[in-house]
Amino acid sequence: MAKAFTVRRVELLQPRIQEIVDALLDGIAPPADFASAVAWELPVQVIGELLGVPPEERRMVRECTETLVASGGTVTAADVAEARGKLAGALNTLIAQRRAEPADDLLTALVAARDDGDRLTDNELLMLGVALLAGGHETTANLTGSFLVELLADRERWTALVARPGLIPSAVEELLRFVPLVTVADLARIAQEDLEIGGQAIRAGDAVLVQLDSANRDESVFASAGELDFGREVNHHVAFGFGVHHCVGAPLARLELRVLLTTLVRRLPDLRLAVSAKDLEWRRGGLMRGVTSLPVTW
Ligand code: HEM
Repeated sequence: MAKAFTVRRVELLQPRIQEIVDALLDGIAPPADFASAVAWELPVQVIGELLGVPPEERRMVRECTETLVASGGTVTAADVAEARGKLAGALNTLIAQRRAEPADDLLTALVAARDDGDRLTDNELLMLGVALLAGGHETTANLTGSFLVELLADRERWTALVARPGLIPSAVEELLRFVPLVTVADLARIAQEDLEIGGQAIRAGDAVLVQLDSANRDESVFASAGELDFGREVNHHVAFGFGVHHCVGAPLARLELRVLLTTLVRRLPDLRLAVSAKDLEWRRGGLMRGVTSLPVTW
């Protein structure tokens, strides 16, 4: 899968991502809810196309993955099991189609990885597909909304990017470092042997829960860690994790965020929040932080 997501291969997707962004912006008029019209649409269309999910099934994908990352509230374990079942059903159909008729897409590459080298079991293949569908858009969609809040709530930040779009790649990295996403420390790692981290003894078999947002604000690593600084030259943040499980979709997420922001500052330089930032509603009780809607005008 990592081969399918190399920076070089992902860069080839840029023209298509640009087309999707332009079409989404062509289809809206002020005032608009940017969360549903753009932030969620872009990543679900991109990952949907990459995996060959037919357009009419993308709404189902979005709803099911929303259930998967919800927690508590009104979502029950049965809802989660049902959502997982629906996604698995859709993917199984797609996998069977690619086996019968290979296409030039990511899913065919994954199917081939299983069939040729017997490296992925059927269940692994299915779970990878679910991880890609869910990981491929919930993260990017929520962060897109949160990034825009950070940029539009403070006019100077937005006008800095309008005046200097060349800052956008470093602004995206800084926003990735600065803006929290996952609401819980859920990246469990199990210690293989006794060790010590930061003066804390950890025994083999202990679970260690990693809080990435905390690491991203570590004052011993980032000067003025609590400030958003688009000029930060060295920015080794861990928003995409670290080590063997480092986010496989990072080049794609970066590309989507860069193309979207670059297009927004060019096409809608007057973009602004249509409500006061303190009146924005943030989702409660889910695994990921994000606005429920993002009313904007221009
Ligand atoms: C800005 C958006 C994104 C963020 C912040 C993000 C963050 C992360 C993080 C922190 C991990 C590591 C999890 C761990 O250590 O256990 C991860 C893994 C993963 N991400 Fe992302 N991700 C993003 C976008 C994407 C996209 C667009 C895709 C797919 C196209 C994707 C697919 C995955 C997959 C499949 C894994 C599991 C990798 C593995 O376990 O080897 N992510 N992501």
